[in-house]
Amino acid sequence: MEVVPFPHPALRYESKPIKAIDPDLERVVAEMFDLMYAAKGIGLAANQVALPYRLFIMNLAGDAAEKTEELVFINPRFLRRKGTAEAEEGCLSFPGLYGQVKRSAKVTIEAFNLKGECFEYALDELAGRAVQHEADHLDGVLFIDRMVDEDRRAKAGIVADYEAQFRRWQADGRYPSDDEIRRQLKALEPQ
Ligand code: CO
Repeated sequence: MEVVPFPHPALRYESKPIKAIDPDLERVVAEMFDLMYAAKGIGLAANQVALPYRLFIMNLAGDAAEKTEELVFINPRFLRRKGTAEAEEGCLSFPGLYGQVKRSAKVTIEAFNLKGECFEYALDELAGRAVQHEADHLDGVLFIDRMVDEDRRAKAGIVADYEAQFRRWQADGRYPSDDEIRRQLKALEPQ
């Protein structure tokens, strides 16, 4: 498992609901936390590790020692949204890229945890922003899509560089073709 870089097709894939919480899924989540901490992130979506699952993880402390801060969101959905707020975001699939993004100021999100329990949180500030960013990943939506116009224009060159790099890696055989990756994702959908 690795964090795949933009424009890996997994990042544009519409993930499918998880149907069973089992030891395989627990292992996936544990590995995702390891990768997230190694990359110094605070959130990571299954799409970012090329798994088409509606699942993301968060630890706003960004610290593996802070286990009580670890949150797992399985099949999340937003129940309410309120207001708008703009702030800077980054994403582990775009190392080094940051930009201003408008989000809802406050959201209420419902999801299942790894015990299969349904929970609900009303979140704002960093937590509210992070869950909106991560939930977008599950729909194949990226923070560059939501960046304010000025930043999107200013960062277009960097995004083009990521694209060119990924195409070189595909040419070198480090990644399969987009079509082949999409076939693999389809086969990995929860059954
Ligand atoms: Co992201």
